[in-house]
Amino acid sequence: MKRIAVLTSGGDAPGMNAAVRAVTRRAIYEGMEVYGINYGYAGLVAGDIRKLDVPDVGDIIQRGGTCLYSARYPEFATEEGQLKGIEQLKKFGIEGLVVIGGDGSYHGALALTKRGFPAVGIPGTIDNDIPGTDYTIGFDTAINTVLDAIDRIRDTATSHVRTFIIEVMGRDAGDIALWAGVAGGADDIIIPEHDFDMEQVAKRIRAGRDRGKKHCLIILAEGVMPGSEFAKQLEVYGDFHARVSVLGHIVRGGSPTARDRVLASKFGSYAVDLLKEGKGGLCIGSLNNQLVAADIVETLETKKHQPDLSLYDLNHQISF
Ligand code: F6P
Repeated sequence: MKRIAVLTSGGDAPGMNAAVRAVTRRAIYEGMEVYGINYGYAGLVAGDIRKLDVPDVGDIIQRGGTCLYSARYPEFATEEGQLKGIEQLKKFGIEGLVVIGGDGSYHGALALTKRGFPAVGIPGTIDNDIPGTDYTIGFDTAINTVLDAIDRIRDTATSHVRTFIIEVMGRDAGDIALWAGVAGGADDIIIPEHDFDMEQVAKRIRAGRDRGKKHCLIILAEGVMPGSEFAKQLEVYGDFHARVSVLGHIVRGGSPTARDRVLASKFGSYAVDLLKEGKGGLCIGSLNNQLVAADIVETLETKKHQPDLSLYDLNHQISF
């Protein structure tokens, strides 16, 4: 392949820029041409496509967000959208596409693959909810941002002897809550992948209070219920001086961690390797610290992401 394109799609994630840089620079290093597509699939369909040269991806490795911009574009699920997208790619003489994004973005890459256009997916989302990889780009930065917030909230929780319900993003996945919760010494972590009993949650808070514990921190994944609703249900079991803090989009921004930048650089470079060899229809991952490429159709149709639930048990054993 001589000419490829790259796009970022869905929710932005810290490290996407490092991945765009790696794709661009590695392709140029290999003597290929690279095009950047603005605003994800929306830009693809609209033909918002520009050539990328070495300086175009300079000074971005440290930046959050995505220099190619992003969009949620459900229209790409339609036949019309996909055919228009392929028409634009052909118009620019593009032979292969790198898609950096989450679940929805992968489904776009899957659709292109099924229509015979070689696409390679790079997992980029703070949610860490993509099958075929242990980690996604942006997850490490997101959990460190949440951790910073937890540490700060702990100060005020202790000072006022309060219970804090800290709601974090993750869509339907509990990975962010789990990892940040264990790292932040949370009293309880509430995630969609594990049942919980509000009476038991209240019991744990009360036991801590009886031992003289001043703060209580509950990390709630947004996929379970809103923090305000959780607080209302908790109130039935007593007055715990609860406050709700919704971290929201703060968790999506910021400069990527070293880990995310390295992961993104590896993924971006590997995607070019695959396309250079004419291989498409793949999604890249890191499993047990090894780079892997798997069939995107099979991965999306047969595999499901599961968070590391041993962290849930670990937290109950050591955080009370
Ligand atoms: O997928 C990333 C994510 O930040 C989720 O954690 C969250 O549920 C969703 O995107 C929010 O989407 P939007 O920014 O479109 O409101």
